[in-house]
Amino acid sequence: MRTLTICPPPPLLLLLLAGLRTPASGLRCYRCEGDGTCSVEECPKARQSCRTTSLWDEDVSSSVMVKKEEKSCAWAGKPNSSLTYLTGQTRITLLENHCTTDLCNKRQDRVGSTPARGGLECVTCGSSDLSCERNMHRTMRCSPQDQCVDLTSYSVPDESAPDERHIRGCGQLSDCSGPLGFHNNHTFTLLRCCNSSLCNGGPVTHHSLLPPNGVKCRSCWGNSTHGCSHREESTISCQGPMDHCLEATGMHELWGPQAMVKGCATAGWCKSPYLSVYGGLDQVEVRCCSDGLCQHQSTPRSGTTPHPHLALSSFLALLVPLALAPSL
Ligand SMILES: *[C@@H]1O[C@H](CO)[C@@H](O)[C@H](O)[C@H]1NC(C)=O
Ligand SMILES: *[C@@H]1O[C@H](CO)[C@@H](O)[C@H](O)[C@H]1NC(C)=O
Ligand SMILES: *[C@@H]1O[C@H](CO)[C@@H](O)[C@H](O)[C@H]1NC(C)=O
Ligand SMILES: *[C@@H]1O[C@H](CO)[C@@H](O)[C@H](O)[C@H]1NC(C)=O
Repeated sequence: MRTLTICPPPPLLLLLLAGLRTPASGLRCYRCEGDGTCSVEECPKARQSCRTTSLWDEDVSSSVMVKKEEKSCAWAGKPNSSLTYLTGQTRITLLENHCTTDLCNKRQDRVGSTPARGGLECVTCGSSDLSCERNMHRTMRCSPQDQCVDLTSYSVPDESAPDERHIRGCGQLSDCSGPLGFHNNHTFTLLRCCNSSLCNGGPVTHHSLLPPNGVKCRSCWGNSTHGCSHREESTISCQGPMDHCLEATGMHELWGPQAMVKGCATAGWCKSPYLSVYGGLDQVEVRCCSDGLCQHQSTPRSGTTPHPHLALSSFLALLVPLALAPSL
């Protein structure tokens, strides 16, 4: 049986939503939990956007559709994202929409299940029925705006936890013109988008298949006393397209105000540091460098100002339970 993790929402998502530490100003949004209870919240300055994140789960033979939804204030400047794929007898659609006027996230976003016309044809599979791993690739017709998507994400070395290690299908994901990825000793994520027919096929990605690229970075997850102390930090060889060293610090409920994540990232991931948010960090500072081990660090780039490219954050957190996260 497929068990996509949305209900209850992943703890990290809740952490994100709970991280409201700046004073309120202006915008109000609906806030709805996965169980359907809703209230109105005043957004803090850094989160001047209203978010709706929905998961639609449709049985393709009976057309029975189950919908789960969460709403809240969110970082400003985030684009809308979507991802659709088939696994077993089910068609899964994930949507994240953002809008910026008072209480604008009220409306129910509808998903059409009729096959789209004029879109790409993409390979589709999901790990929950092992269709990706077994190369049992079906195809699906995408909406005209969609690209073909190939997402891999799991914890290292224990790969057993997340039930959707691989997802292939149709989607609209921002900043996804080149590969987007991050890995360290605890986690591996690689997202690729492409826009020609069936371009997301081929064998599934695994970190053991990606050759080292010569860059070495520090790897850890935690804080300076737990997880990221000098004793616990390791040096890893970066693989595949992940040839930049990333170091992010921020506020984390468990790890405190100086929580850190270190590892290897693609250039694109450095520009849109969603791991930081995805990892449950608030008020994030990100450094990325290409000269190995970040020895010649420049000044922190993003500070506490809202980042325009935190595109996938909670969206990815919904898709891919972050197995590296310490249990709460
Ligand atoms: C995102 O979708 C909402 C409708 O759900 C729309 O109002 C908004 O303009 C869209 N934003 C972008 C950046 O396309
Ligand atoms: C298709 O992909 C290429 C390469 O990733 C990109 O340059 C181009 O803008 C994309 N076209 C569309 C319509 O998305
Ligand atoms: C990190 O991973 C490498 C390669 O898998 C391993 O050799 C090393 O012992 C790991 N370090 C830690 C601290 O887990
Ligand atoms: C680091 O994390 C541990 C475990 O959660 C916590 O007990 C400790 O207070 C944190 N250290 C700092 C400096 O925040």
